[in-house]
Amino acid sequence: MKAIVTGGAGFIGSNFLQMVCGTYPEDSWICLDALTYAGTTASLASLANCRNFRFVKGDITDRAFVHELFASEAPDVVIHFAAETHVDRSLIDPFVFERTNVGGTITLLEEARIAGVQRFHQISTDEVYGDLPLERPDLFFTESSPLRPSSPYSASKASADLFVHAYGRSHGLPVTISRCSNNFGPWSFPEKLIPLTAIRALSNKSIPIYGTGLNTRDWLFVSDHCRAIDCIVRHGTPGEIYNVCSGRDRSNLEVVGEILDLLHKPRSLITLVADRPGHDKRYAMSAEKLSKTLGWEPQVPFEEGLRATLRWYVQNRAWWEPLLKGEFREYFASHYSDSEGFDL
Ligand code: NAD
Ligand code: DAU
Repeated sequence: MKAIVTGGAGFIGSNFLQMVCGTYPEDSWICLDALTYAGTTASLASLANCRNFRFVKGDITDRAFVHELFASEAPDVVIHFAAETHVDRSLIDPFVFERTNVGGTITLLEEARIAGVQRFHQISTDEVYGDLPLERPDLFFTESSPLRPSSPYSASKASADLFVHAYGRSHGLPVTISRCSNNFGPWSFPEKLIPLTAIRALSNKSIPIYGTGLNTRDWLFVSDHCRAIDCIVRHGTPGEIYNVCSGRDRSNLEVVGEILDLLHKPRSLITLVADRPGHDKRYAMSAEKLSKTLGWEPQVPFEEGLRATLRWYVQNRAWWEPLLKGEFREYFASHYSDSEGFDL
């Protein structure tokens, strides 16, 4: 099998490639990534000498480039991770989210159709379903729940999902979609809550928590998500959508408190700041379909994954310290400018 993996230099894509290149040496893996602020080949350094892996720098919105790549490589499978992924940034510049997440997905679908790929797998998110009230822990989304995205990010992902579905229906492209909850683990860009908390706590810097800190997320260790994607690509039914999650949500205060405890830092570092506009309250889904039809179950308990993640950030300053310079420094200064005492 020859697979083109878009966005493979980002957080989940790089974890996925590190897993599959070793597990399936007989398959060929091509990473297509534009190396935006969120992508770095440093996350793929361990694959530099793998004979079944190749990195190609390119933009999924560049139709001529994607056409040429698909024509020359004739991939069997496209696994589509590439996206703009940070909700806060989508509130500042929605246009790049529309361009990459919607336009880039259509470009890939069209070229996958022309190239006759055997599977197009779309990596989507639980955020397409919108949120649930905090006072209703009994509620959860299934694959047939309506799409009610709240942010420009989730609206762009929901739009992309609809195009993926339409290509399955109109053109018979063998598509699958997975919708996962929040991931955590190594190689996650420091703009996201868990890595941001870890690196700031390591420098004894205050941790910004939006609003009350009571909003909840269902955190899944990244290797569990990667195993789910592999399983769906190989055994999932074309046309189907699969939710992926741990089944347990935690408040942001709980998660940040646990990180501080594990790093032996005081909880007084927690600072409540202005809330994210439109901040989704609670995400919760059922992954029963994936479990019943394909036998997938999460394997890494939250506490174990969190310890492994923190150990990784402690031991890999050489990966994340360079990311704090340049673009991220400017973004951070501007995004947290209303709150006192927030420098990088
Ligand atoms: P990330 O932001 O860490 O990485 C995104 C990658 O896409 C980067 O390497 C970037 O360079 C690349 N990219 C961006 N625009 C591109 C373009 N125009 N052309 C080519 N490459 C481009 O993202 P992530 O957290 O690894 O998320 C991967 C996918 O998983 C996304 O589709 C996201 O919506 C989805 N997802 C993420 C989570 C999560 O918790 N992080 C949860 C569920 C679903
Ligand atoms: O649910 C899946 C989604 O998870 C993915 O589709 C997105 O790509 C990914 O970014 C993530 O979205 P969230 O918005 O949930 O993740 P983030 O890490 O930005 O925020 C997690 C929670 O923490 C959320 O309730 C907002 C809060 N938060 C975040 C930041 C960055 C804070 O309280 N303070 C912060 O500084």
